[in-house]
Amino acid sequence: MADDEKLVEIVSRWRDDAGAFVVECLGAEPTPQQRDALSAFSKPGARVSITSGHGTGKSTLFCWVIYWALCCFYDVKVAVTAPTSHQLTDNLWRDLAKWKADMLEPWKGDIVIKSDRVSMNGSIGFAVARTSRKENPEALHGLHAKNMMFLIDEASGIPEQIFEAARGSLSTPGARVLMAANPTRLSGYFYNSHHRNRDLWTRFRFSCLDSPRVDPVYVKQIADEYGEDSDMYRVRVLGEFPNASVTQFMPGDVVEAAMGKHLRSEMFDFAPKILGVDVAMFGGDRSVIVLRQGLYSNIVYQTRGNTPEQLAWHAARLYDEHKADALIVDATGVGEAVMSSLRLMHRSPIAFYAGEKSLLANCANRRTEVWYKMREWFLSGGAVPDDPDLRDDLVGPEYQYTTGKNLIQLERKADMKKRGLASPDLADALAVTFAADVQAKYGFGGYAPDDGDGTADEDYDIYA
Ligand SMILES: Nc1ncnc2c1ncn2[C@@H]1O[C@H](COP(=O)(O)OP(=O)(O)OP(=O)(O)O)[C@@H](O)[C@H]1O
Ligand SMILES: [Mg+2]
Repeated sequence: MADDEKLVEIVSRWRDDAGAFVVECLGAEPTPQQRDALSAFSKPGARVSITSGHGTGKSTLFCWVIYWALCCFYDVKVAVTAPTSHQLTDNLWRDLAKWKADMLEPWKGDIVIKSDRVSMNGSIGFAVARTSRKENPEALHGLHAKNMMFLIDEASGIPEQIFEAARGSLSTPGARVLMAANPTRLSGYFYNSHHRNRDLWTRFRFSCLDSPRVDPVYVKQIADEYGEDSDMYRVRVLGEFPNASVTQFMPGDVVEAAMGKHLRSEMFDFAPKILGVDVAMFGGDRSVIVLRQGLYSNIVYQTRGNTPEQLAWHAARLYDEHKADALIVDATGVGEAVMSSLRLMHRSPIAFYAGEKSLLANCANRRTEVWYKMREWFLSGGAVPDDPDLRDDLVGPEYQYTTGKNLIQLERKADMKKRGLASPDLADALAVTFAADVQAKYGFGGYAPDDGDGTADEDYDIYA
């Protein structure tokens, strides 16, 4: 067989088996975890998402895949991104030289590495490094080739705007996508690849405990410092999503648990029925009405683009249909118009102003107060519908302590928008139901089951 034919044969074998390429052409020895990911990525149209602890060799995997793409495909374009130029060019790109050192000829001689680009002489393919910054949402956009590959390192830290802008590119039929990250955030594209969109991805978790690359001393340090049941250990060692990202207000595991419950409103006949109305502030946001009774809750109405009068009409309708005890409206801004329409319809709505002073001593404003009460409700067993948008809304906001008075302050919607998150309208509507102490029309405790201890059933306070 002529030399050329032999090369063609080798390359076509490598094309189907990136692991063999890494071993034979780069002279590297992948760990079993890296092997599994390479094997999955070898398939056309592969979408691979990896959560991982520190130092298991994720970035290394990206370097290898860049070379595999350039050596095995002619018409190929590889977009490589990470949240900061430090992670991308200082680390990942710098390691390219290291993995080129032992590469086989003739490939090695043809690879050309530039500051943000790698190409191969005699091929039209290239890989390009683009940092994913909010100001530059086109990082993964605008490239076309027969073989498209998207490599996304530290994906948990990448702003949602980047994924938004790349939505079309990332779902091009046949395109391959490889993402890896320490799973620090409980929302967004990367999180979703392991949750609501899990069926669309081949998923891996690289635990440090299973990686020959990670020094057990590192694992022990984290365990000693934070504890094996800490979020730090979950994220940095096990490569598992945390229960709550450090400054996240609503713990993800609590929300997940609340979604797994199936309560019926009739179970809480003794508790007041409260409707909470969140009014869309900006075009594109949702107006939402949530019904809560005791530990039961449900989204009973949501829409984009209603006038305040139309929304008021629906609120009044639901108030009557459900024979609700209270109708609480976020009256800030446009909400004022919903309030006046409801008053004209004689439905006695209760106004809630998110920016006013909190009635709880530890919260900075009323919006924080109602979210705080909502969190208590979740912790005492509240149930919500299994709705992925509601979940995102609940776990989206972060919080901080105010300087001086040290009060809890929930992240403003405008700041969430800056982080690329949607306005948490579904969760806000549920939170609004906690804005007033409401008594059931037929008298509190009328239907409360007796716990048999001969005392008043003060335990039921949590249901109010
Ligand atoms: N299979 C391997 N053989 C030899 N060295 C490896 C291998 N995999 C990774 N390494 C080396 O181990 C170190 C850690 O790898 P890498 O930076 O790829 O890990 P990472 O998972 O991206 O880490 P981080 O969590 O810090 O981003 C690097 O020095 C890398 O060159
Ligand atoms: Mg890395």
